[in-house]
Amino acid sequence: MNRAIRWAAPLALAVVLAVTLAHPAAMAQTGAPEGGASAPQAAASAPAASAPAPSASAASAPAASASAASAPAEAAAPAVPPGQGTEYTEKGADTCLSCHDSESDSAGFSTAAIFKTRHAQRGDPHAPFGKGNLQCEACHGPGARHATKGSNKKSTINSFKPTSFLTVQQRNQPCLGCHQDSVRNAWHVGAHDRNQLGCTSCHKLHSERDAVREKTAQADVCYACHKQERADFQKTSAHPVRFGLMTCSACHNAHGSSSTAMLAKSTVNQTCYSCHAEKRGPLLWEHAPVVEDCTLCHSPHGSVRRALLNKSPPLLCQQCHSQAGHPPVARTPSGLPSVAGGGGAGAVYMVAGSCTNCHTQVHGSNHPSGAKLLR
Ligand code: HEC
Ligand code: HEC
Ligand code: HEC
Ligand code: HEC
Ligand code: HEC
Ligand code: HEC
Ligand code: HEC
Ligand code: HEC
Ligand code: HEC
Ligand code: HEC
Repeated sequence: MNRAIRWAAPLALAVVLAVTLAHPAAMAQTGAPEGGASAPQAAASAPAASAPAPSASAASAPAASASAASAPAEAAAPAVPPGQGTEYTEKGADTCLSCHDSESDSAGFSTAAIFKTRHAQRGDPHAPFGKGNLQCEACHGPGARHATKGSNKKSTINSFKPTSFLTVQQRNQPCLGCHQDSVRNAWHVGAHDRNQLGCTSCHKLHSERDAVREKTAQADVCYACHKQERADFQKTSAHPVRFGLMTCSACHNAHGSSSTAMLAKSTVNQTCYSCHAEKRGPLLWEHAPVVEDCTLCHSPHGSVRRALLNKSPPLLCQQCHSQAGHPPVARTPSGLPSVAGGGGAGAVYMVAGSCTNCHTQVHGSNHPSGAKLLR
């Protein structure tokens, strides 16, 4: 196939402009100016586009060579069967851009902005615009039927929209075809695929700026669906996501993973250790729940208590420690030291930070006599 890949991003933009000059004629007919031509040439040929131009494109059905004037004849054109079909256009992006120019852009969407992204890199053999690749149709799928005059434009192309005639799995397929690598090999076991999210639920591709991959903007993309997490990260003690210092993807793989809650690492603790390495140990005296799961005591997103704690001591500790002795003493008036200093049995264990006043090494101790996590 003569794919005429002569696009360089600036050139393409220039051609888009040139095509714009020809508008609306260009929108009305498939016979477009020879897209691959240099910008001045394309501009020069723009007026010619309003005359019936014999189209070299096999993709253009007979009706395509009809002029704008005979547009009503569209109805008489051979019926284009529903569905996307399997045929690609002969000239690729040139054909698409003959209709999709800046005039057809809607608010917040620019066709040409794709040329500002890495997908349009011609030097990358894996990119859609890499030499010999399918360009627009690498993502949008075979477009010959769509480019045919009289076709139902919405049911002949992958628009990636929720309104599409394609299922979400079909819409994601072209993306996964190139991107099912180690980062996304658990996509199909993740909660997002199970809940019918498309790649485009998070990603913007016709844009230089993809918010979900920006540190300061990512959380807002997630918050659109995750309201509880938005609230949690606003709490007094929280990981510094709201300051743009941390992202959800520091802990999660939004593309799915085989661990709980799609965590980036295989367990909760492995995920925490990636930053809080000092908590990993090895420690002479371990505290069982710390080794097991940090979330037994901490809320990873945020908490109204200090240090992201689920509960404040003594309650935090008393969930598990209720044996005889001081551990089960309650923080009640009778449990606190008396003003006279006489104090009940439990009194001293309850002041201020209570348990952690003495048991300072809650995460474990390396002190030879740190068995009770006191030093
Ligand atoms: C003959 C002109 C023409 C050509 C050639 C053409 N399109 Fe379209 N396309 C349209 C029109 C018209 C629409 C409908 C726009 C609307 O209703 O909002 C459309 C819609 C689309 C949509 C959105 C569909 C939807 O459901 O909203 C996508 C995506 C698209 N085209 C991609 C392409 C690609 C990729 C190519 C090249 C293979 C291409 N088009 C070639 C005219 C064309
Ligand atoms: C890397 C994949 C990819 C490539 C390459 C690509 N697109 Fe798209 N296109 C998308 C996605 C995804 C959307 C859905 C909107 C979005 O995410 O920005 C889209 C949306 C569109 C739409 C519908 C816009 C609307 O909202 O109505 C049109 C038209 C379109 N693309 C045309 C093109 C044309 C023409 C080309 C080639 C010059 C092209 N696309 C190349 C992925 C791609
Ligand atoms: C023909 C193969 C191909 C297709 C189809 C494709 N991509 Fe890509 N994509 C690439 C290449 C190559 C890169 C360059 C970065 C890289 O090497 O990973 C890339 C980069 C990206 C990036 C990162 C961009 C950056 O600036 O680093 C995202 C996000 C992405 N693709 C999402 C998608 C989504 C979503 C789709 C489907 C709508 C899609 N891709 C379709 C090949 C493809
Ligand atoms: C729930 C939101 C979400 C969905 C859905 C999603 N992504 Fe992503 N994607 C992200 C985030 C967040 C990043 C940035 C990750 C980082 O910074 O480590 C990203 C980064 C990427 C990148 C560039 C970095 C890399 O990992 O190679 C590619 C490519 C990509 N996504 C492809 C896809 C594809 C393909 C799909 C659909 C199968 C998809 N994404 C669906 C959130 C999402
Ligand atoms: C379009 C909506 C949507 C967006 C955007 C979205 N999610 Fe989700 N997410 C869901 C749904 C639906 C579920 C499954 C139900 C639930 O657990 O709430 C889910 C579940 C999750 C889970 C729990 C997984 C599990 O196995 O329990 C995590 C973690 C998650 N999302 C992280 C993210 C991150 C990080 C982002 C942003 C990069 C994001 N989500 C963006 C809809 C979304
Ligand atoms: C410091 C690491 C960390 C960060 C940052 C983080 N999470 Fe989480 N997230 C976790 C852990 C750990 C769990 C699992 C909690 C559990 O097992 O009880 C989790 C659970 C979830 C769940 C599932 C909740 C449920 O009730 O099942 C969702 C949804 C989620 N996170 C979304 C997000 C979003 C959205 C962001 C960014 C705004 C984010 N997370 C940032 C560590 C993190
Ligand atoms: C990407 C790095 C990173 C990961 C992963 C991470 N944290 Fe953090 N953590 C931080 C940063 C940064 C702070 C904030 C320090 C500050 O505010 O001075 C913090 C603060 C904390 C604090 C509160 C400190 C205080 O005094 O208020 C706790 C508790 C905590 N993290 C627990 C966890 C747990 C549990 C996990 C695993 C679910 C985890 N962290 C994963 C970076 C990380
Ligand atoms: C048995 C309950 C418990 C478990 C389990 C636990 N922590 Fe803590 N953590 C605490 C308490 C209590 C504090 C507050 C300490 C203080 O008052 O000085 C704290 C404070 C922290 C702090 C901030 C102060 C510091 O020591 O740096 C970080 C970070 C932290 N924990 C990380 C973790 C990580 C990572 C894990 C899992 C490996 C974990 N915690 C497991 C109870 C626990
Ligand atoms: C999720 C349950 C759980 C929580 C919460 C918890 N612990 Fe523990 N703790 C344990 C277990 C299990 C052991 C090990 C008991 C053993 O080895 O007999 C332990 C051991 C200890 C020991 C050493 C006891 C000994 O006999 O050697 C001390 C001291 C201790 N915990 C203090 C605390 C304090 C202080 C808190 C609150 C900050 C706390 N624990 C929260 C479960 C918990
Ligand atoms: C005033 C300091 C102090 C405070 C406050 C304190 N402890 Fe202790 N705790 C100790 C000492 C000292 C030991 C060691 C006693 C021994 O070896 O006989 C100990 C031992 C323990 C043990 C090991 C069991 C045992 O009898 O040897 C546990 C469990 C424990 N404390 C839990 C707690 C909890 C829960 C709290 C908060 C309600 C708490 N401690 C508050 C000083 C304190």
